[in-house]
Amino acid sequence: MKTLKLHYPVHTLNGKEIFAAGSVLTHETIQEARKTYPPTPATAQSLLKHRSVLNDLQDMIGQPPYNTVYSNKEDRSAVLTLMERSQVQPVVLDSLDYFHRYDINTYRHALMVFALSLLLTRHLTLPRRDLEQEILSAGPTHDIGKTCVPIAILRKSTPLTVNERRHLEHHTAAGFALLAWDNGDPHAPAPQIARDHHERSNGTGYPEGKRLNNILVEIIAACDIYDALISPRPYRSSSFDNRTALEELTDLAQKNCLNSKVLQTLIALNRCNRPRVDDCVISLEKRGTPPADNNYGITIDETAPVSPLQKK
Ligand SMILES: [Fe+2]
Ligand SMILES: [Fe+2]
Repeated sequence: MKTLKLHYPVHTLNGKEIFAAGSVLTHETIQEARKTYPPTPATAQSLLKHRSVLNDLQDMIGQPPYNTVYSNKEDRSAVLTLMERSQVQPVVLDSLDYFHRYDINTYRHALMVFALSLLLTRHLTLPRRDLEQEILSAGPTHDIGKTCVPIAILRKSTPLTVNERRHLEHHTAAGFALLAWDNGDPHAPAPQIARDHHERSNGTGYPEGKRLNNILVEIIAACDIYDALISPRPYRSSSFDNRTALEELTDLAQKNCLNSKVLQTLIALNRCNRPRVDDCVISLEKRGTPPADNNYGITIDETAPVSPLQKK
């Protein structure tokens, strides 16, 4: 296992620090943390029977643009049936409760990325390993590391400072640490997805800048970006419309940031006439307009002198 260094502490939701800032995550340090701070032994519980999860999910699936993506009844019931099988650890349910209370966007995002990745897997025409089972075993955990990022950063509507962006991006390493600690196996799908879902096929992502070449994580990465674009976010006043979101993803696939087969599947699911995935032609025509006031990705240097004009 390649090593990853933490820049901020990683703690559980009840405040127990399980890894200090500066810790290097290896198989040994993870096992050591499990000995020092043993995860509470617990049995997995049903995700959909937890609080309002099933209702929230059905509600979101019924709203545009997901109502098009899930317009096929068979698809909808297949995804819900799969999700009914989803049994997750208390650490996952606790994270959902936390996001539901403090950051509703991340709560919705965790569920929708999970559901959409199962739907994509159903339609992906690739020689495949048991992706469905791997996604199910991970549950809605790709952003669980955001429980270690201050809420003020998650909710910030203006551009992040360099340090805030660093802390936000640290959710990948934190999620890996939390899930590997809880599960004991750093190679399980959940910690791998949490760590790598911001890596890109051309090596331009984070936390390690490695070339992503793992279809499981590539599915989550595409669903992650798509859902983030079409959903409300504090850093812009409106979401991307569906057409523009798909154009952004097409751009990313052309730059070799995203897997183009996964993108083709997502686009086929978004077409009303439902072409077969292999017959679906991706249009390169640009017709959408991104929101004008999108602060995503804009970082300010807090050490830079503020001009008198900016102070006003
Ligand atoms: Fe993320
Ligand atoms: Fe995400």
